[in-house]
This record gives sequence, C-alpha cells and structure tokens, in this order.
Amino acid sequence: MSVMSPHDCRIHVPIPIRSQLRADVARGLCQTQKALPPRYFYDARGSQLFEQICQQPEYYLTRTERAILQRHAADILDIVEECSVVELGSGSAVKTRLLFDESVRRGYHLHYVPIDISESMLRKTAQRLQAEYAQMRIEGLVADYLHGLAALPAASRRLVLFLGSNLGNFTPAEQERFFTQLVAVLQRGDCLVLGLDLRKPVEILEAAYNDRAGVTAAFNLNLLRRLNRELRANFDLTTFSHLAFYNRQLHQIEMHLRSEIAQEVAIADLGMRVPFRTGETIHTEISRKFDAEEVRTQLHAYGLQECAAWTDERAWFLVALFRYAGWKESHER
Ligand code: AVJ
Repeated sequence: MSVMSPHDCRIHVPIPIRSQLRADVARGLCQTQKALPPRYFYDARGSQLFEQICQQPEYYLTRTERAILQRHAADILDIVEECSVVELGSGSAVKTRLLFDESVRRGYHLHYVPIDISESMLRKTAQRLQAEYAQMRIEGLVADYLHGLAALPAASRRLVLFLGSNLGNFTPAEQERFFTQLVAVLQRGDCLVLGLDLRKPVEILEAAYNDRAGVTAAFNLNLLRRLNRELRANFDLTTFSHLAFYNRQLHQIEMHLRSEIAQEVAIADLGMRVPFRTGETIHTEISRKFDAEEVRTQLHAYGLQECAAWTDERAWFLVALFRYAGWKESHER
C-alpha cells in the first residue's frame, strides 16, 4: 500500500477516426480544388514529424509560446486557480508542464483531460505525465476537437487550453462553429487560454513553413503515405512536392501538395481513380495569422471575456486568457 500509488490513466476513443478519413478523402479529392483536412497529418509518424518541426530554427511558434508561458505560468494560475485542465490538441504536452509545475508548487490537485487526434501520441504523453506526476488524474480522449468537446468528462471548474495556434487551422466559418460548441459545454467561470500566432512580415512566415531541413515538406508528404497505407492508394511521393506560401488577403499560410506530372492515382479502398493535371494541387492546410484586437472582439460576442494577454518582445505570438461570463443563462430564461 502506498499513498504514492498513481491513478490509472484512462484513454477513451469516442469515434472511429478511420471511417471519417474515408468520407473526407472521398469528398476532398473530388472537388475542383482538391483538399484534405489537416487533422489527418497526425498519424504516429506525422505527430513525430510535427515535434521535429517545432525544433526547426525557422519555426518560431513553439519556442516563442513556451517562453511566454514560462514567464506567465504563475500569472495564469493566479487568475484561474485550481481547476481541471482540458487541452485541445495536447500533442507532447511539453508546454503544459509549465502550468503543472506551477500547480504542484501551489499544492493544487492535478486533473488533466488531454484531447488529441493521434492515439499513439496521446498514449505516450499520458504515460509520461503519469510517471512524472504520480498524483495526476488523467482522462484522455482520442478525438478531433468537436467530438472531444462533446465527450468531456464532468469537472467542477475547467481551464481549456488551445495552444500552439491550433486555432489557425480553422476557416472563419469553422472557427465560429468551434466557439459555439465550446461555450455550449463551458460553465460560467471556466477559463480558456488561447495561443495565437500573430501577423508579421511575410518572409518570416514563409520561412517557418519552408524549413531548410525539409521537415515541413516531409510532414506534408506524409499525408499521402498515410493514404497509401490506410486506404490502399498508390500515390508516388516522388511526383508530389511541398508548397507553402502566405495569402495576404486571407492572412494565412496555405500548404499544398503539388503534382509535378499529369497522372491518375488509384485509391483501392474507395474504388476511386483521381486525375491530376501537371501542377495541380491538393490543399492540405491553412494556418491563419491573427490580429489580437479582432480575436478579443470575436470572442467577446460568445461571452468569453479577456482577462489578460501576454506577448513576446517581438510581438510575434499571443497568449490570451479568457473567462466565460455565460450568456446561456440569459438566453435560456
Ligand atoms: C499545429 C496547426 C499550429 O499551422 O503552424 C506546422 C501545423 N503545419 N507546420 C501550424 C504546421 C506546418 C501548425 N499547427
């Protein structure tokens, strides 16, 4: 018997991701502008490649956000105090540890609900955290953001973390849906910490998505490798190339996979043959770059009030803390 005996880390898989993949690929590759949702980057290999991207000198996002969190972990906990931490797209949860360590210093209970699309990454992270923080109660969810939110375990007070500028993957319409869903599950007093990449000169942005070591290119191309494996497709990876550029009108990096030749690709499991013209692309990701004031105004309309916001000395990245003031009550009664 031991007071140090760790909790079980429980991992739930609420929806089958594979059947969603089939539907999304079938739909996405029939469109005039072919497109695939970025969530499918994160198979086991893709999640590892993303961790490697975060270490590239050009990819300033992770490093900058970590420095902000390091400086302000205590400020964040001064405001949110003891609560359950729900993290959307938890990945390796390296940055989250800064909050856990500060919580431990304060003697707070640790309840962590990591939500990630990658089962292998989620399991690895949960195991590591459990070993490091024996008293932590972990309830992981293998899910995309919307299914994850819908399946949240009960907790009295929550802090939702949405870090790394993950929000940037949403189109404005998807972002609206996301916040609608988020406030539907929040209770008055719950908090949200958002990490957002801010607008900056185009050279810096484009370099971050075209690292010299080619890791981002490998990450992008890995999506085709996944389709070959999971849907028995026959993409020849040597005939596709990585393309990433900044769209100034929409304030977003766009990533594509470009077919260098005219060809037809077969996807056996879907009974599909997909034609490509020379130079035709599959749009694989957007990474929107934000304006702090615009986000503040948008979230205010959902009842999310900004309590504090911090940035780095170059003002490249923003970490903002919101409290849900609740509009449901006034609307429902
Ligand atoms: C994890 C979505 C924030 O958009 O910067 C990194 C993913 N894609 N390099 C981003 C990504 C290419 C990343 N997010």
